[in-house]
Amino acid sequence: MNDASNLWKVTTNRFVNEKEAIMRNGNIYQISNGYMGYRGTLDEFRSEELVGITLAGIFDKVGDAWREPVNAPNGGYTEIYVDGEEVSALKTAIKTHRQTLYLKNAKFERKTTFTVKGKEVTINSERFLSIDKPNLLVIKYSFSCSADTEIIIRTGIDFNIWDLNGPHLTEVNSTVSRDVLVVDAKTHEAGIPLAVAEAIDMNFGAEKHINEKNRILREINLKAEAGKTYSFNKYSAVFKGQDTPDNNVKKAADDLVNEAKNAGYDECLKAHNIKWQKRWELCDVIIDGDKEAQLALRYSIFQLLIVAPVKGSSNSIPARALSGQVYKGAIFWDTEMFMFPFFVHTYPEVAIELLRYRINTLDGARRKAQSEGPGYRGAFYAWESQETGDEACTYFNIGDPITKRNLRTHFRDRQVHISGDVAIAQWEYFKMTGDDSLLLEGGAEVILECARFYYSYAYFKKNKNRYEVLDVVGPDEYHENVHNNAFTNMVVKVTFEVAIATVYYLKSKYPDELKKLIDKIKISDEIDGFREASDLIYLPEPDPETGVIEQFDAYYKLEDVSREELKKRIIHPDEYMGAGQGIAVQTQIIKQADVIMMMNIFKNRFSREIKKANWEYYEPRTEHGSSLSACAYAMVAADIGKTDYAYNYFLKTAKLDIEAKYKVYVGTIFMGGSHPAANGGAWMTAVFGFAGLSADAEKVTINPNMYKKWKSLTFNLIYKGDSYSLTVTGKNVVVRAMKSNRAGRLFSVNGKTIECQPGQELNFKY
Ligand code: BGC
Repeated sequence: MNDASNLWKVTTNRFVNEKEAIMRNGNIYQISNGYMGYRGTLDEFRSEELVGITLAGIFDKVGDAWREPVNAPNGGYTEIYVDGEEVSALKTAIKTHRQTLYLKNAKFERKTTFTVKGKEVTINSERFLSIDKPNLLVIKYSFSCSADTEIIIRTGIDFNIWDLNGPHLTEVNSTVSRDVLVVDAKTHEAGIPLAVAEAIDMNFGAEKHINEKNRILREINLKAEAGKTYSFNKYSAVFKGQDTPDNNVKKAADDLVNEAKNAGYDECLKAHNIKWQKRWELCDVIIDGDKEAQLALRYSIFQLLIVAPVKGSSNSIPARALSGQVYKGAIFWDTEMFMFPFFVHTYPEVAIELLRYRINTLDGARRKAQSEGPGYRGAFYAWESQETGDEACTYFNIGDPITKRNLRTHFRDRQVHISGDVAIAQWEYFKMTGDDSLLLEGGAEVILECARFYYSYAYFKKNKNRYEVLDVVGPDEYHENVHNNAFTNMVVKVTFEVAIATVYYLKSKYPDELKKLIDKIKISDEIDGFREASDLIYLPEPDPETGVIEQFDAYYKLEDVSREELKKRIIHPDEYMGAGQGIAVQTQIIKQADVIMMMNIFKNRFSREIKKANWEYYEPRTEHGSSLSACAYAMVAADIGKTDYAYNYFLKTAKLDIEAKYKVYVGTIFMGGSHPAANGGAWMTAVFGFAGLSADAEKVTINPNMYKKWKSLTFNLIYKGDSYSLTVTGKNVVVRAMKSNRAGRLFSVNGKTIECQPGQELNFKY
């Protein structure tokens, strides 16, 4: 047993009664099951404390406000009165408070002892969102008093919920039938029906039902005996339009809470735990010798697992996961570039949902290409994508806190690398799993349409005999409308390569399917163009003397100021540094990894010397204004042997959500929430960075860059459908193949390549 075995929870013994702390704890302690996320708030909290049950894949727009995901009414609500006085962490004296998030099974627990009128009252509740039945929330609530007490419990469904741009529900009805409370409503924009039901099992008092303006409650009066613990369980179900074939969400919710109540809390928890255990068997990473890193990494993995889309949902993962409605609940490149690698290497069935989401939103991407520019063809994926794939990012996407005006940003119309990110992930899945079914299901079409978009976007410069990609925004969003951003040009090139490889593959294996696809999207003429463009696309070269690649044309001409110097120019703490007038725009200070991101994703295309030169050049010029930045610097640092730097950046990434010390305003926009891209970045830094793993269609390569304080790093890998456990130390790499594997696969450690047969254990010294 090592350190890792007891690092399975996050806990605090303090309740800080401040809005800010409540908001941050709401993120840290959230639970989620891919269908919905429940913020880490207390039973008695309401919308002011940002209680939110954010649903995946359902969006709504009210008036001119931003379209965002819908928050469901809170079926987890309970308040309690002691001798007539309402007890709440917000207003009652607290003797002790402890809240805990259990990482093994995504269970939240709180235990608070209050002092009320000279008596001690303890409330203990625990809750989980079932991954066995994703529509279900289950809560166990207990209380006890130090002396005989008159208690009133009011529990039910609260529909005064937190919304950033809501309220999203209209035609709200609340009813009681056969002891089940039900709230049903419709969304404004599309009239999607939604229902929340709640049932309880309680055997210590008769209840009456109270229908208030914003909540429906049961009220139970009881004379509690001193020292006795009273417990009841709550079962709440959320159903939305698409979940039931007949749209009868009320019935579905009602049925499920009854079923859960019949099964009971323990049975529901058991079924949930079994599935969680499987997830951890697939996905845990063990760092021996570093408790801080272990807990932070495990928490990061946990964050990814709680938002893994429900099987068959074709949902993807929003940039703030299901921690709320921030960022419009939209899906960004974050998913493909930062989260997808974790899933494809450990839990490919989730990767499938992420890919299907893009396949299903291809038409939205086509519409965007049509509407966004002159002569654009193919698929220009939404920078901020919701359920249809139409663009959710606005042209004026950030408010300036100084002028109070909205700033024109070009994320939506110029961050063209998004299409290539999507296409590359579709191909990557095939390479890593050998499963071509997704390509046939629409992945190939996605890839060809993305390549086609680039073919229509790139300019052929006759005098230079090369294709250029002009007027773009690269990952560094502080510099907009730039030409030949090295990262973007590389993504474009690789997209052409992937498109050609796709055509080649289909031609050799599925010629009829290829013909059908070419006929369907009428692309035959352009395919030759992709070949030419892939050869002739301009990739900014490393400077012959310094080895540095210029981030975009004329980047070097910008003021070369230090980060510290630049920060002295800040007028308002929340001001945005990019977009036209931002203070970084005229300087070489960049928001996030850009050239370094390219060297991270396409690591085999650059030598160690070039990576080192660029890391050293760009690192002091990077502001890390995005949570996506630190992990890219960490991974490239590991790659070039700067493992101390890699470690610092790794911790920064891995601790981001568990500590929740992030900035929550950018411009006038509230950005608080969790950061699944950074969570994916933490996993990638451990596995790709320190363990040095990279895989392609032929083999798995491991060139470790172990951090000196780590005794070993153990993780699992699924490659071509076969399962492996790997342990990397400072001296050797052990690869264990499961007996059930179907074939031998090549593993290569520091240049030595061996085929690992099913059931075999290989020990590579290095
Ligand atoms: C970053 C983007 C990222 C988005 C969502 C922005 O601040 O610059 O790269 O996709 O946040 O996480």
